[in-house]
Order: sequence, then C-alpha cells, then structure tokens
Amino acid sequence: MKEVDMNSAMREGMRRLASGVSVISTKTAAGARFAMTATSVTSLSAEPASLLVCINRNTSMYEAVKDGGAFCVNVLRFDQQEISNKCASGDQGEERFEVGDWQETADLPYLEGSLAVFVCDQEQAIDYGTHRILIGAIKRVLVDDGDTIDPLVYLDGGYKTL
Ligand SMILES: Cc1cc2nc3c(=O)[nH]c(=O)nc-3n(C[C@H](O)[C@H](O)[C@H](O)COP(=O)(O)O)c2cc1C
Repeated sequence: MKEVDMNSAMREGMRRLASGVSVISTKTAAGARFAMTATSVTSLSAEPASLLVCINRNTSMYEAVKDGGAFCVNVLRFDQQEISNKCASGDQGEERFEVGDWQETADLPYLEGSLAVFVCDQEQAIDYGTHRILIGAIKRVLVDDGDTIDPLVYLDGGYKTL
C-alpha cells in the first residue's frame, strides 16, 4: 500500500471545485489602499446579511484588515481577468489599482462595472491554520443592472465562464 500525499491530493481535489473570482478591497485608517484576488468568498446568511472570506496571513491584505477594518467584495465578470491577475500579482498596494474602474463608497475602494459589490463591516475574525476567516456584515450591495450575468470562474487552474 502507499499513502497518498495530502498536499497533492488536496490540489487534485480542489482543481475540480469551481469558484467565482472576487477581488477584496480595503483602505486603512492611514488611507493606504489594498486589493487582493480571492475565490474563498461564501455567502453566510441572509439574516443577518453576511458573507465570509478566507485570507492567507502572509498577504498584504491580511496586514490591512487584521485590526478589524471594513472591506468590499467585488464579484468579477468574465472580461475582468486582467484585474484578477493584477490583484494576485507581484504588484503591491496602489499598483493594483492601475487596472479597472476603481471608485469609492463609504470610504472604501470598489470596482465599478463588476457583477456585484458587497460593502462589509468586519464582524468577526477566526484564525485557522495559515488563514484568517473574516465574517463580513453586509452594509450595502451594488449590482450590475445588465441583462447577462457572466461570472469569472476559476476551475482546473484557469479561468472559465458559464
Ligand atoms: C484565482 C485566485 C484565487 C485566489 N484566492 C485566494 C483566497 O481566497 N485567499 C487568499 O488569501 N489568497 C487567494 N489568492 C492568492 C492571492 O490573490 C495572492 O496570493 C495575493 O494577491 C498575494 O498577496 P500579496 O502579494 O498582497 O501579499 C488567489 C489567487 C488567485 C489567482
């Protein structure tokens, strides 16, 4: 018998899990803006309106939100792959805002033209392993009012749409 290596088994399994791609964005009290690509966004409950997102504690986003700051979840559309790449790249801080129509609401940066924007207060944070799970209390929702919902989906190590 041979034991299956958990790291590669996990990778193989997760390649088959389709996820919508979002960008988390925030601004610190000192006015520094941060944005990070994330697929770990999950709807939590309708009452209270809430979601969760998992953030690696090695990321610059973690540093920006670790003290409880508010954040936006920007749900990307298929034609926003460049923004997804930018916000997961070696570019840092303000450089990540060079692509996309970034606007501001409630003193937070958000992506105009994304499929949906959830403006969240940070309600709770739970550390697990390498990550911090942020629970966001949704304060405002902006939605694209076009006819088609064409999400950016991440599956099998690449971008897809429905
Ligand atoms: C499609 C995709 C999904 C990602 N999802 C997450 C996620 O849910 N949580 C996370 O911490 N990092 C996620 N990442 C990795 C971060 O975007 C990336 O490591 C981060 O931008 C690097 O952060 P830093 O350079 O600002 O420290 C994802 C990357 C990609 C390309």
